[in-house]
Amino acid sequence: MGFRHKANMRPMLQVFMLVTCCLCLELTCAIDTLRVSQSIRDSEVLVSNGQNFKLGFFSPVNSNQRYVGIMYNIPVPTVIWVANRDKPLNDSTGKVEMSEDGNLVILDGQEEVLWSSNLSWSVANCSAHLLDTGNLVLQDNLSGMILWESFQHASDSLIQRMKIMTDLRTNEKNILTSWRSPSDPALGSFTASIELLELPQLVVWNGSDPYWRSGPHNGQIFIGISHMDAYLYQNGVDMVNDNPGTAYLTFTYFNASVLTYFVLNVSGIIQQKLWSDGKRDWEVTWWSIESECDVYSKCGPYGSCNAKAVPMCTCLPGFEPKNVDEWNAANWISGCTRKTSLQCETNNSIGKMGKQDGFLRLKTVKLPDHAKWFPALEAHCGSQCLNNCSCIAYAYYSGIGCMQWTDSLIDVQKFSGGGGDLYIRLAHVELDNKKDQTTIIATTIVLGFIMITICTYFLLNWYRGSKQKCWRLLTRSRGTDPGYSKESLPKDYVNGVKLEEVPFFKFEMLSKATGNFDSAFKLGQGGFGPVYKGKLPSGQEIAVKRLAGSSNQGLQEFKNEVELISKLQHRNLVRLLGCCVESEEIMLVYEYMPNRSLDAYLFDKQKLLDWKTRVVIIEGICRGLVYLHRDSRLRIIHRDLKASNILLDEELNPKISDFGLARIFGGKQDQANTTRVVGTFGYMAPEYALEGRFSEKSDVYSFGVLLLEIVSGRRNTSFYNDEQAQSLVAYAWKLWNEESMINLMDPLIFDPQMEPKILRYANVGLLCVQEVAQDRPSISTILSMLSSEIVDLPHPEQPAFIVHQRSSEASPSKFSANDITVTIVEGR
Ligand SMILES: *[C@@H]1O[C@H](CO)[C@@H](O)[C@H](O)[C@H]1NC(C)=O
Ligand SMILES: *[C@@H]1O[C@H](CO)[C@@H](O)[C@H](O)[C@H]1NC(C)=O
Ligand SMILES: *[C@@H]1O[C@H](CO)[C@@H](O)[C@H](O)[C@H]1NC(C)=O
Ligand SMILES: *[C@@H]1O[C@H](CO)[C@@H](O)[C@H](O)[C@H]1NC(C)=O
Ligand SMILES: *[C@@H]1O[C@H](CO)[C@@H](O)[C@H](O)[C@H]1NC(C)=O
Ligand SMILES: *[C@@H]1O[C@H](CO)[C@@H](O)[C@H](O)[C@H]1NC(C)=O
Ligand SMILES: *[C@@H]1O[C@H](CO)[C@@H](O)[C@H](O)[C@H]1NC(C)=O
Ligand SMILES: *[C@@H]1O[C@H](CO)[C@@H](O)[C@H](O)[C@H]1NC(C)=O
Ligand SMILES: *[C@@H]1O[C@H](CO)[C@@H](O)[C@H](O)[C@H]1NC(C)=O
Repeated sequence: MGFRHKANMRPMLQVFMLVTCCLCLELTCAIDTLRVSQSIRDSEVLVSNGQNFKLGFFSPVNSNQRYVGIMYNIPVPTVIWVANRDKPLNDSTGKVEMSEDGNLVILDGQEEVLWSSNLSWSVANCSAHLLDTGNLVLQDNLSGMILWESFQHASDSLIQRMKIMTDLRTNEKNILTSWRSPSDPALGSFTASIELLELPQLVVWNGSDPYWRSGPHNGQIFIGISHMDAYLYQNGVDMVNDNPGTAYLTFTYFNASVLTYFVLNVSGIIQQKLWSDGKRDWEVTWWSIESECDVYSKCGPYGSCNAKAVPMCTCLPGFEPKNVDEWNAANWISGCTRKTSLQCETNNSIGKMGKQDGFLRLKTVKLPDHAKWFPALEAHCGSQCLNNCSCIAYAYYSGIGCMQWTDSLIDVQKFSGGGGDLYIRLAHVELDNKKDQTTIIATTIVLGFIMITICTYFLLNWYRGSKQKCWRLLTRSRGTDPGYSKESLPKDYVNGVKLEEVPFFKFEMLSKATGNFDSAFKLGQGGFGPVYKGKLPSGQEIAVKRLAGSSNQGLQEFKNEVELISKLQHRNLVRLLGCCVESEEIMLVYEYMPNRSLDAYLFDKQKLLDWKTRVVIIEGICRGLVYLHRDSRLRIIHRDLKASNILLDEELNPKISDFGLARIFGGKQDQANTTRVVGTFGYMAPEYALEGRFSEKSDVYSFGVLLLEIVSGRRNTSFYNDEQAQSLVAYAWKLWNEESMINLMDPLIFDPQMEPKILRYANVGLLCVQEVAQDRPSISTILSMLSSEIVDLPHPEQPAFIVHQRSSEASPSKFSANDITVTIVEGR
């Protein structure tokens, strides 16, 4: 079987320890494992292999009670986990024992069980290991399976690689609970947990009342914490929300040799502590509640808190205190109320002054709690809100998207930087008042600039000549809006896309740039037509994709691509520069990639791609996919990921291209069906090829195949009539079972030093191509696996082998469901 390791010297060590332990000092001869019936007494400790952590008895300050806990192995006592929080020992007669039923237990002097790990079934031959990460695990000696771990039963501290987690599907939660007081580790009143409403966030609770919240995570930072950016990057704090109903928070500090952790202290404040070598003590480098304003709902509903103002609470513009006396007495809890009711709420709009409500923008605020997420693009978010009277505010935040509020606006705070822009709905008169103050100044300025504006306008028009917009031209030249029947995108996206942002190129100019589409300039054949290299008069090099013929399918893909890619920006995605629609010609213009596609490099010029470069390419593709699946918030399934769709720039950085088949998923959608199966054989996940079901996990499958191709330097399709296996995936699986995975490696770049990393990559590749879509890891998990943040990789299950019976390299890359001939080849 795979990589079972740990042929170890522990038995020897153990004998040595048993003989000498009572003689020597506890620190010098400590073990890290308790086997069945072994125990440690009050004066003894377990010390992790690398000396980072120890487990043993301790008394908190000003207390004589004895507790068992995990501590940093440093001179300053630092407890990060406590077992018997509510059941202290009165004396030092207690011991920690590995019981015969597989539980770790704490016994008092009378051999009564004070605390137990409470496994739900008993396991013979279980052992307890204190790992170097600070995790205490109970492991089944036979299967090696981990049955219990302290990381999943957090106390008040979050150390690196630990996860604060909520899983609504299984009702599991891992939360931090504060100590009752510095001298009593019993469960205190504050807890910190991940709350999964529409947008997951970290919330500190005082009993059942929220006390502090982080705001949602945008894939990079928590947007409710001001000046979080640099701080979080350094700490690598990440909120992962892979599946609906689950999310976890974890962190890894950028400098692995620094000791640092987060703790929920007895006052309900999350502190980050960093070990200072100079001071030989912990330093608090960050804490969650810096001012009163950070306390949840300090100023009540519709109030806004500003730490730098006196008094710190004000009502939002257009609102007034609900109870003026209370408010003036600095009791802000009942908050504010609307001054002028909204036009949309009044029944007889005819009798009213009847001007429509509008929005007022509040810059850089902590966005209110209870946001609802909508699958709308920026341009559409506001109009969608305006059309629904129950929407009282909206905001658009990159990485999150369109948020709207309906109940009330609570926990708003004015930041001096960071945060987001909140648009609150107000009656027209309230907006007018605002305007009046600025009218005089505005008028003067407007008058002053009117002349200039007019001149500029005419000048610009002159320059742009017949500047027209891709989209309008497209619809005009085709008459109707074709191609969006059953398979169309959700309506909001289509309407919301700002196609005006895509510049328009003239046919004449592109024709000139590409030598009249000379075949000498042809770069290759893309998804829906030939691609040419060109050079603009400015000297800029471009790639021009020309839609062949006027097929409806090509047109649909063209529209899809323009819509999608104009919205996406990531260094691992190819950039669209503009488009051209003239008479029957439809073209897309991209940045030019001097190193063409990965395809050409990988299979023809393999020597140029050493292992390091391949790692950069694999990780780059993975990042691009993480962006598509998660960070862009649109949740895009590419559907046609393959070597020829990965382009390489000058430095051989990969860029994903060809979004002709990509699809956007709505917020809660996980999977879709299609009757038109398009994609490329060998890269297609079985459930997609056979049943038309696609999801993020079908992209993961394609990524797995691509990864195996990059590692092996062999085309997935190079195995036809190969005796060893019928496909690259089958071949890799065969090698895995023969435990000779290293043979997968491209011999041209083989480097024995790299072996562990290569094996890790191959393992990840096999995890991606597992037959059952749910078994495949999500793309963000894959990224962590590749970068070794996740150390222990699971064993892959059997992959799906799909073999195309009538395949040839020259066959077109697309086909409809009717053309498919596939057989699933069962593995041995
Ligand atoms: C410790 O002492 C208290 C009070 O004397 C007693 O209630 C408790 O049971 C004792 N705990 C143990 C573990 O002996
Ligand atoms: C173990 O189970 C007992 C009895 O159900 C319970 O009192 C105790 O709190 C549990 N201990 C832990 C650590 O969950
Ligand atoms: C534990 O494993 C050892 C060797 O693997 C075996 O000899 C022993 O009988 C096992 N103990 C129990 C309680 O099953
Ligand atoms: C199981 O126990 C035996 C002897 O007790 C030991 O040699 C072996 O390493 C253990 N296996 C694991 C996976 O811990
Ligand atoms: C926590 O809640 C309790 C009970 O509601 C209250 O007395 C206490 O003041 C609260 N603590 C803080 C820090 O708000
Ligand atoms: C990491 O921390 C160690 C110890 O504090 C320090 O010596 C080293 O310079 C740090 N490395 C970086 C890259 O900051
Ligand atoms: C909790 O943390 C805050 C912020 O660092 C600090 O001011 C406060 O003293 C801490 N509370 C206790 C009881 O240590
Ligand atoms: C609108 O009409 C309904 C019943 O027709 C009434 O209950 C409600 O109070 C009215 N709202 C306003 C703002 O007048
Ligand atoms: C308005 O928004 C509310 C709350 O989001 C929703 O329940 C309702 O269906 C929406 N109404 C319309 C007409 O869209």
